[in-house]
Amino acid sequence: MTYDLTVIGTGPGGYVCAIRAAQLGLKVAVVEKNKTFGGTCLNIGCIPSKALLAASEKFAEAEHDLPAFGVIVGKPSLDLKAMMKHKSDTVAANVNGVAFLLKKNKVDPFIGTGTITAPGRIEVTAADGGKQTIETKAIVIATGSDVAPLPGVTIDEKDIISSTGALELAKVPGRLLVVGAGVIGLELGSVWRRLGAEVTVVEFLDRILPGLDAETAKQAQRMLEKQGLKFVLGHKVAKIEKQKTGLKVAIEPSAGGAASEIEADVALVAIGRRPYTEGLGLENAGVALERGRVVIDDRFATNVPGIYAIGDVVRGPMLAHKAEDEGIAVAEILAGQHGHVNYNVIPSVVYTNPEIASVGASEEELQAKGIAYKTGKFPFSANGRARAMRATEGFVKFLADATTDRVLGVHIVGPFAGELIAEAAVLMEFSGSSEDLARTCHAHPTLSEAMKEAALAVDKRAIHI
Ligand code: FAD
Ligand code: NAI
Repeated sequence: MTYDLTVIGTGPGGYVCAIRAAQLGLKVAVVEKNKTFGGTCLNIGCIPSKALLAASEKFAEAEHDLPAFGVIVGKPSLDLKAMMKHKSDTVAANVNGVAFLLKKNKVDPFIGTGTITAPGRIEVTAADGGKQTIETKAIVIATGSDVAPLPGVTIDEKDIISSTGALELAKVPGRLLVVGAGVIGLELGSVWRRLGAEVTVVEFLDRILPGLDAETAKQAQRMLEKQGLKFVLGHKVAKIEKQKTGLKVAIEPSAGGAASEIEADVALVAIGRRPYTEGLGLENAGVALERGRVVIDDRFATNVPGIYAIGDVVRGPMLAHKAEDEGIAVAEILAGQHGHVNYNVIPSVVYTNPEIASVGASEEELQAKGIAYKTGKFPFSANGRARAMRATEGFVKFLADATTDRVLGVHIVGPFAGELIAEAAVLMEFSGSSEDLARTCHAHPTLSEAMKEAALAVDKRAIHI
């Protein structure tokens, strides 16, 4: 079988790349070792976690928030099986959707592990051991990432779990210990906290969400603490021991010092993810890796002609939309166009309640680069729609170049932050200024008025504070 392009992996990077290449007239195949398409994101990542976040948020609303709206439903009870069914149905609808789209675009699927035996040749080994060989002009590696292990700790996905186990728990743990106050720790910690678990998050650094604008992270921490999440910052987990019932977790200050103990029923290891290249045969083909990631140039090409790579397996943030945009860009390059990704404008969202969203530079990054900037901040407590929704915690913060007023970063913690950030991304993609946004009419009463007000605040002329 001969193709113009074969994509290995059908996560958001791989399947989007395949569809775009097919749209542009290439003859395309995909190779996927999992039973379903969609990769980490659709099967065990973005989609199931958001289904459980949405469901557990409804539970928390019914438990804590509805009476203040005059809606009395009594104490809610949890049907975890039904909640998990909602999650599985959501995943099934999405992965079936990808199967439909691949078919519609005449992309040929090969189910099995893809191994590059030489440039232009892939051997596919099915679960039953059957082998097929694909000849292809170009190969795009889109094999994604896997859970980073905690040295000395064995993940059994029952008592000591990764994000995958945290999406499958059969009952609400009494005490959940989360290792790592990153995105997974906060999102999945929130899910189980809302459903009744006591959640303690142990974080190596002295702050949560490293990389996020520090003031925004601090505000988010305060709000999560109000919901009952406990943070032990500046500590690392040294050992997790299984006892007759529960776990004994030894933690140590990151800077050194005396160890202490925490008891838990379940421990979630969420200390990051690492690129996944097992079984790909990169050594046969001579593809260079750096710290486990496939090395690429700015056209997604590896050091071996005809082999490209995108998504979590290459440099940059491990985000589904970054993988998708790289998939589109490399497909366009392979079809002779000029695909490209603007890495300065990749939004990131943490789907806690309230959401935390960010695009562009943080204050710390601007300070480190010596870039002079102006700040405009607006609190949701002064936004009419947020008051009507009883969702007044948080703020929007604009960072604009002190001389040109060009927007360099936007950080939001508050209701629907993940939706609001798209406006900032569009503004920044067009090299917009805070003045541009401030002069754009925003519908009233909407949360997006907080964006306009923060943009006005850059020039100290917000109306409602
Ligand atoms: P993946 O999605 O990892 O797909 C790789 C695919 O390659 C897999 O299907 C795998 O089976 C296949 N594969 C690997 N090796 C081979 C081989 N040799 N042969 C054949 N097939 C192979 N990102 C967001 O942007 N938003 C979120 O809300 C979000 N939530 C997340 C929640 C969780 C719990 C997790 C774990 C991750 C989350 N992410 C989120 C990150 C997101 O899932 C990844 O950034 C994204 O999936 C990366 O896409 P990818 O195409 O590079 O790889
Ligand atoms: P992460 O990199 O976001 O956070 C890991 C945290 O663990 C960091 O704060 C780090 O300092 C801490 N840590 C590392 N070693 C530690 C130790 N020994 N003890 C205590 N703390 C330790 O990684 P996470 O949360 O596992 O997520 C992986 C990736 O998946 C993210 O980087 C993100 O790219 C992606 N993701 C994205 C989501 C989104 O966009 N909403 C949701 C979930 C995951």
